[in-house]
Amino acid sequence: MKNKVVKVLALGLLLLPGITKAQNNNVINIETRTITAKIAPTMWGVFFEDINMGADGGIYAELVKNRSFEFFRPLMGWTVSGEKVKEGDLLILNRTPVHTANPRFLRATVRNTVAGEAGLRNEGFRGIGIKQGLRYDFSVYYRQQQPGIRLHVQLLNANGKVIGDTILTPSQQDTAWHKEAVSFHATETEAKASLQLWLEGNGTIDLDMISLFPEDTWKRRPGGMRADMIQQLADMKPGFIRFPGGCIVEGFDLSQRYQWKKTIGPVEERQLIINRWNFEFAHRPTPDYFQTFGLGFFEYFQLAEDIGAEPLPILNCGMACQFNSAELVPLDELDPYIQDALDLIEFANGDTTSTWGKVRAHMGHPAPFQLKLLGIGNENWGPQYVERLQRFTKAIRERYPDIRLVNSSGTDPEGERFDYLNKALRDMHADIIDEHYYRPPQWFLQNARRYDNYPRNGSKVFAGEYAAQSDKTVSIHNKNNWLTALSEAAFMTGLERNAAVVNMASYAPLFAHADGWQWTPDLIWVDNLRSYGTPNYYVQQLFSLNKGTAVVPVHMHNDVIAGLDSLYATAALDEKSHELIIKLVNVSDKEQGYTVQLDAKPAVRARLTVLQHDDVNTVNSFEQPGRVSPKEMEMSIPGKRFPLQLAPRSLSVLRVRL
Ligand code: AHR
Repeated sequence: MKNKVVKVLALGLLLLPGITKAQNNNVINIETRTITAKIAPTMWGVFFEDINMGADGGIYAELVKNRSFEFFRPLMGWTVSGEKVKEGDLLILNRTPVHTANPRFLRATVRNTVAGEAGLRNEGFRGIGIKQGLRYDFSVYYRQQQPGIRLHVQLLNANGKVIGDTILTPSQQDTAWHKEAVSFHATETEAKASLQLWLEGNGTIDLDMISLFPEDTWKRRPGGMRADMIQQLADMKPGFIRFPGGCIVEGFDLSQRYQWKKTIGPVEERQLIINRWNFEFAHRPTPDYFQTFGLGFFEYFQLAEDIGAEPLPILNCGMACQFNSAELVPLDELDPYIQDALDLIEFANGDTTSTWGKVRAHMGHPAPFQLKLLGIGNENWGPQYVERLQRFTKAIRERYPDIRLVNSSGTDPEGERFDYLNKALRDMHADIIDEHYYRPPQWFLQNARRYDNYPRNGSKVFAGEYAAQSDKTVSIHNKNNWLTALSEAAFMTGLERNAAVVNMASYAPLFAHADGWQWTPDLIWVDNLRSYGTPNYYVQQLFSLNKGTAVVPVHMHNDVIAGLDSLYATAALDEKSHELIIKLVNVSDKEQGYTVQLDAKPAVRARLTVLQHDDVNTVNSFEQPGRVSPKEMEMSIPGKRFPLQLAPRSLSVLRVRL
């Protein structure tokens, strides 16, 4: 976090005892000696889905689109180049019977060609982001039919200028498939580059899995993830990461559901499928959106481990998306789905002698991934869901009683569907119920008390997807403006206050590519080279980095602070560092003055972080990523009772050592 640290002299700019400007007589009482709930370490997490080019073209750092010619149109993303390419020189062959997962490949024939005469160009994912001086790793699978061709690899900038090139001369002459790689450096930075491949020489060659990765992937893993995007997640220190979605779990129909077993093992054997967001919205068509699964369940588990987050996979429960085909697996055919869930637990946690633990070890991770949470179904609803869920739950609880299951409460936080499921799931003693709310900012402000009266015993809540909408849900005019973020902050004080009930929460969706999104608002926006956090991101980050371990009561006029005077507040202790963490959200357009009354003596020095903007329509952007971003300052606290000024439209986090 690039916070600006401002030393605030004496009693601070925002904390001015005795100053009466905007000071009212309201006293905020905080009882630091009374713990009302423990805060789950999983409290604030992230929700990842391959939507908005979140995986392919997003965190998966592959730069070649349709590298294996498996899109519906085999040459989608590719353009044939050079005047010496004749009819029949480039053929797409299909070997389904011997290679069902990746059946197609390209057969190229050329006759005495040099660079510029015969080849193919790949456009990348809305262009290819290239950085000057960085190493790029090109690789390809090839098979020689008639040896004599070498591959001339070039990076071209948007004007067609060569900004990096190399030659790959196949070293194997036989007719078996071989993988070969070559690396080279780029001479220029370009956001919209393309990859040009010239076939030089004389002969016939088969090509597949034509791939290009930058060297600067996350943790420098070959074939890995885009580091700047993952860093944004790591900077939030999320308590969990939910994957792979979202509706993508359900699929348009069952054939398009997410099947984790097809996403592990050698990358060239992972069978791609169309991304359901490819055609979901007529107003945002993305015909070239596929899931290649270079990023699969092994990589998600590894990512969770890397960023210190609990993995939370969500599995299909035998139902396709009920907004789409709503296909159901008959109950007497549900066993393979349940087996997938049991196998996944073994894949994550089983020892290396178990069937699936062995697969994990073979992929390079003999140690278990320590899976503790598992979701069954995404946004499914109705009795059809309950009867399927009951079978999953029975089988998983019998075999793995320590795994906590996350269940869906449907698409909305109220209404008939919700009421039915909420009751049914609680009757089933569900471990965790996943609630979703895409609602206007006003809803978030009005619902800060939503969980105050939820039963303290029994099922816990996972606020699994939420985002304030500045326009109608799924409208392309939705903005990640300060009003949406501020209202989420206000609402989140209610989540923290009710940590006895709410164990987990995540904003959704997480990522969006500026040139390839389907859904807005989103937490983090990227293009081919840059990424920035929205105001909503900084709200999530501030709550997560200042989570605390236990909730303590905060009252004004003997009531919780949830909207009175446009103020929302919560307080937590960090029992390890002996700090009191107070979060205050002033949604009014006026500076507000309060008196804080503690029951314990605070240290003189405290740290205040403020996220603020006067204009609720303000957004961050690639050009101005820090317009709304946290400012951190040191301040002095005179004693147990002190005045507090809250800037208009602000989220303030005060950390005081006790
Ligand atoms: O976050 C976008 C979508 O919203 C998710 O895929 C789905 O679960 C919800 O409807």
